Amino acid sequence: MSGARLAILTGAAGHIGRATVEKFAATGWSLVITDVSAAVDEIASTAAGKHGTTVIGVQADIAAEEGVMEVTAAAEGTGVPVTFLGLIAGINHEAAPVDQIDMNVWDRVLSINLRANVLMMKHCVPLLRKSGGGAIATTSSWWGRAAHPYFSAYCASKAGVIALTQSAAGELAPHIRVNSVAPGNVGTPMHYDALEVEARERRIPVAEMQEIEWAKIPLGRPAEPAEIAAAFHFLASPESSYLTGAVLDVNGGCGFY
Ligand SMILES: NC(=O)c1ccc[n+]([C@@H]2O[C@H](COP(=O)([O-])OP(=O)(O)OC[C@H]3O[C@@H](n4cnc5c(N)ncnc54)[C@H](O)[C@@H]3O)[C@@H](O)[C@H]2O)c1
Repeated sequence: MSGARLAILTGAAGHIGRATVEKFAATGWSLVITDVSAAVDEIASTAAGKHGTTVIGVQADIAAEEGVMEVTAAAEGTGVPVTFLGLIAGINHEAAPVDQIDMNVWDRVLSINLRANVLMMKHCVPLLRKSGGGAIATTSSWWGRAAHPYFSAYCASKAGVIALTQSAAGELAPHIRVNSVAPGNVGTPMHYDALEVEARERRIPVAEMQEIEWAKIPLGRPAEPAEIAAAFHFLASPESSYLTGAVLDVNGGCGFY
């Protein structure tokens, strides 16, 4: 892609989101970044000041259609062609077996992790088409590839994200490519909180839980958020021009050995 181009990134105030904002802003992308957290405004002005590119922060709840429309209005307002949509926002939940799951929690997880991504695609695809095409990258998870006990809502939502990615890839080809980044364990509070709640559920020490989980990673450590951001950047670039409907496992080799 040459000339000015704009990426819309959700979950931009989160750990992977911030690293992705940094990666894109540092390489000259204009950005509309969004998060339900008010921190998104400061992240936008810091990135704009540091890299001299346009970065607009929109505090919005993307589980609601009005929130999504605020994001698209901000992107349209820049006049810069939208060529990438990075869907990073997501939540996890307390560990619970299926017979004890709180259905309000189930609905909230599915609403943010899956339905909000559909809403974002629905409203952003016209902008990508208007730009002559581009790319979308969703965030699934290793836990959407191979589910994990006690996190059924999260795992089901991420398996749904993979199916959504593949459906959209088929529909939007050849001008819009749609792929998914599937992180394994990333060294963020989402990972450490999950270790803690699962350790509680299994009645074992957190250190033992961490040892069990990290033993599944051939590279022996969780990812840095920047290593996940690099995958989004690749999926936004012409370097990935022959990838669509793909799930890029960025998980240190989890589950393959
Ligand atoms: N951290 C990991 O180990 C890991 C592993 C696999 C997948 N992932 C996925 O990566 C993505 C980012 O994870 P992270 O570790 O940076 O988490 P994070 O909690 O640091 O960031 C998630 C961001 O999403 C935002 N968000 C939540 N609900 C929202 C809503 N309704 N509207 C707008 N924004 C909303 C949050 O405010 C937060 O800033 C998530 O989709 C997560 O499921 C993370």
